[in-house]
This record gives sequence, structure tokens and C-alpha cells, in this order.
Amino acid sequence: MNFSPLVLRSISETREWSREIRRSGTLGFVPTMGALHEGHAELMRVAARECGAVAVSIYVNPTQFGPREDLGKYPRTFESDLELCRSVGVKAIFFPSDEIMYPRGRENFTAVEVPGLTTLFEGASRPGHFVGVATVVTKLFGIVVPDVSYFGRKDYQQWLVIKRMTEDLNLGVTLRRVDTVREPDGLAMSSRNRYLSAAERSMALSLSRSLKAVEMALASGETQVKQLEKCMTEVLGDNPGVQLDYARIVNADNLKEQNVVESHIPESAVALIAARVGTTRLIDNLLLPPVSG
Ligand code: PAF
Repeated sequence: MNFSPLVLRSISETREWSREIRRSGTLGFVPTMGALHEGHAELMRVAARECGAVAVSIYVNPTQFGPREDLGKYPRTFESDLELCRSVGVKAIFFPSDEIMYPRGRENFTAVEVPGLTTLFEGASRPGHFVGVATVVTKLFGIVVPDVSYFGRKDYQQWLVIKRMTEDLNLGVTLRRVDTVREPDGLAMSSRNRYLSAAERSMALSLSRSLKAVEMALASGETQVKQLEKCMTEVLGDNPGVQLDYARIVNADNLKEQNVVESHIPESAVALIAARVGTTRLIDNLLLPPVSG
């Protein structure tokens, strides 16, 4: 039987708990914004297999939302989040307030800026987003002091940004990337899926279908990026309810453009896709060629 996780609200009690845990074992950490789903549960399960204890943070970080984004309506579901954490054996949840995370206010904080990577794709569509992400993750690492931290591959660009930042700032945290968890019909799990109406949810499937189309085209010998990108947009183009932001195939390490996918080097490229379905912005991606492919 799992016990209910300890809920830690202050920085000092979180640091003290972490120090105690690390005296006798490794601490795994899963940072989240709550509204937890099976994708988060998988991160926590992997962390529990690999570490002596697992901590989760639940904090809807205001600095990573743009002024016209969904900060106000972002789902806050603490009771069910607590239950999910308990069911997978999480030992503690860091659940801070805005006052604790940004004591000088949301406009007045020391920021972490990762150059280059953050101006592309999500960074171009959501200015300031990655400054907020990099800053809050740095702060969370400083508060929770984990040995290993776990991130989902669904936010692929976020993963690259956090990896670069952790290396550049010598944060001393080992990072692990965990594969995207999908619904049986292919939709990538996301806290924002709960905004979708039934009709929108079925339109949202065109994102994962477009990635499947690329995978099949690559498997049948097409390696030209322009042609592969065309496969993606053709699948999306059929759907009037889906407003495409980008559908691109780029180098998987640095997100730079490339002309061909090196079909003999697994995961050397990444197909990235972002689209608005109704009012909900969704992202998905696929590493190419897939390891199993
Ligand atoms: O991926 C998320 O849920 C958030 O961007 C993160 C990493 C918890 C930072 O707020």
C-alpha cells in the first residue's frame, strides 16, 4: 500500500526533506504544472524504478504563459493529482504559491535565458515562454535538489532547452527523457486535451496521423525533407478545423534545417508539429528514423 505523499509548501521544508532523502539514496524529480495524466504517471513510474524516492512539483508557472494564453483557465486539479501521485508511490509533492516562487513579483525576477534554441518554433510562436520554463526549472532544481529529473518527450524543444541549460549552468542534475504516452487512437497525452470538445478531439488526431504519414513515407524510402514535410501538411490540410502553426523536420540535436533525413542514423531528425484545434494549441513530434523502425 502507498502512503499519501507529503505536501511541502515552503522552500526550507522541501530542502530539509530532500537532504534527508539523499543521505540514504537517490532522489528522482518530476516537475509538473499539475492536471496530471498517464504521461506524468509514466514519468513518475520510471523515476520510481530508477531512484530511491520520487518528488513531484505541482506549480502552474505564470512566467511561461504569454499575456493572451491560458494561464487563468489552466486546469487545477490538486485532489486528483494527489491521488495519482499516491498511486504510483511518490513520496513528496512540492506545491508552492506564486509568492514563494516569485517573491518580487512576476515582472521582477532573475531570468535564465538559453540563446539560439529558444527563438525557434515554440519560442517564435510563444515569445518569452522558454525564459519562464528555464527560470522555473532552475529554481525548482535549486529547491528540490534532485539527483535525476524526468521530462516527457512530447515537449521536445523544452527538453533540448532544459538539457542545454543544465549543462551550461552546471546544475549537477542528471536528466532523463521519457517517451510520449498516447491514447489508444494516437493522440499524445496533454493536460490541454481536456479543453477539447468531442468534435475537436477527433480533429486533433490529424497531428499524430501526420506524423504517422511521415514515418510511413520514410520507411518506404523517401528521405527528402521537403517531400516528407509535404506528407505532413497534406494530412493536416484535409482538416478545416485545424489551424497549422508549423510542421517541420529538422536536426534532432539543434533544430537546424536539413535537406535529408539520414535514414541510417536513428533519431537524427525530429518532425515537429504545432496546430490550434478550436482555441486549443497542441504540439506533437516524432524522432526520425524511429529506433524500432
Ligand atoms: O512541462 C511542464 O509541465 C512545464 O513546462 C514545467 C517543466 C513543469 C515547467 O513549468
